[in-house]
Amino acid sequence: PRILILGAPGAGKGTQSAKIVEHFDVEHITTGDALRSNKQMDISHLDLEYDTPAEYMDQGELVPDEVVNAIVDEALSSADGFILDGYPRNLEQVEALEDMTDLDVVLTLDVSEEELVHRLTGRRMDPETGDIYHVEYNPPEDPEVEERLEEREDDTEETVRERLRVYQKNTAPVIEYYEDEGSLERVDGEQAPDEVWDDVKATIEENA
Ligand code: AP5
Ligand code: ZN
Repeated sequence: PRILILGAPGAGKGTQSAKIVEHFDVEHITTGDALRSNKQMDISHLDLEYDTPAEYMDQGELVPDEVVNAIVDEALSSADGFILDGYPRNLEQVEALEDMTDLDVVLTLDVSEEELVHRLTGRRMDPETGDIYHVEYNPPEDPEVEERLEEREDDTEETVRERLRVYQKNTAPVIEYYEDEGSLERVDGEQAPDEVWDDVKATIEENA
């Protein structure tokens, strides 16, 4: 299936995408991860405000559409089934995506703002596997893994607030767009990860 997962920063898109990839055998297309692996990419030829994605990301701002659209277009060209995570984030990206592919399932994870801040400031990443943890909700069992965990550079309280502001301004209209179109499936993302997964899996099975 061709699946789109929407939701605010910290809603659990990455956490659920990992489960979706494993269960439905689809490719994980995530603009956030793609940009983090290419943070220092030279985009000066595009004559934008900054010369690398890093400067946008570390402030919690969106990386310009032309950079992100190209990443997704390239990734989609070699994917059959996919879970798209972190894109589209504004209405211009919605339009670009519609020229690239159709979707079978569009779902969004609903989580309150207070919980989002708590999740993001407690998130830890395993730099070796990319696995996502949380100091309180989902700590690793292996002390060796715990030892090497890192915080994401944009998970400081100040940047988190800015990411949530950017989300309200630019990405909330994307959710509204799919809702008006009648294709949006809402999942209660505030439940425990396994309960969210039960609902996500059922939603995909019903719609794919
Ligand atoms: P991106 O990487 O997409 O970040 P984001 O949208 O802010 O989302 P996150 O990855 O922070 O959260 P998530 O929903 O994946 O939550 P997770 O599963 O990790 O983008 C980063 C930046 O890149 C942007 O700011 C922008 O600069 C740029 N960018 C990316 N895409 C772009 C685009 N299309 N256009 C322009 N710029 C773009 O979970 C969070 C935490 O909660 C973890 O600790 C996890 O363990 C925990 N958790 C998860 N689920 C639960 C649960 N059910 N209960 C309790 N804890 C949970
Ligand atoms: Zn993510």
